[in-house]
Amino acid sequence: MKTFNIAIIGAGMIGAAHASGYRAHQARLASDQHQFVLHTVCDAREDAARELAKVWGFAHVASDWQAVIADPEIDIVSVTLPNFMHAEVATAALRAGKHVLCEKPLALTAAQAAEMTALAKASKGVSGSVFN
Ligand SMILES: NC(=O)c1ccc[n+]([C@@H]2O[C@H](COP(=O)([O-])OP(=O)(O)OC[C@H]3O[C@@H](n4cnc5c(N)ncnc54)[C@H](O)[C@@H]3O)[C@@H](O)[C@H]2O)c1
Repeated sequence: MKTFNIAIIGAGMIGAAHASGYRAHQARLASDQHQFVLHTVCDAREDAARELAKVWGFAHVASDWQAVIADPEIDIVSVTLPNFMHAEVATAALRAGKHVLCEKPLALTAAQAAEMTALAKASKGVSGSVFN
């Protein structure tokens, strides 16, 4: 049985949407081979992280995104931070071997987004961006 631990980095409006989505599909996507765990919510505002974790049933809170990405227990990372942080945080998560779901816009320039796309293609994880 492989366990995938999920972390959401950015506990604002869209972090809540990701939390709701993971929670809604957690049971449906589980199988004899896989389970998905609502592990950590990270935000620089720790009270916001704590509130989101409580509402959606995440076990842990954090305020340092670099520590979350360095944590080998974390398998899947949602990047739901302000736009200017997406490239830095998603790139670090990809380099750490995580599966990454990064909010739009992926980056602030097309060149930066192309670099991230190449990195995602070369990485072992399954990654994507989000447009609603
Ligand atoms: N896919 C869509 O349809 C859709 C819709 C709206 C917004 N978005 C995108 O989602 C992203 C988030 O939007 P939002 O409305 O939730 O913003 P928000 O401001 O509500 O949330 C961002 C959170 O990031 C936290 N944060 C900021 N700097 C941080 C740091 N250094 N470390 C940890 N946490 C930090 C803030 O405290 C805040 O809680 C934006 O990039 C936006 O473009 C996507």
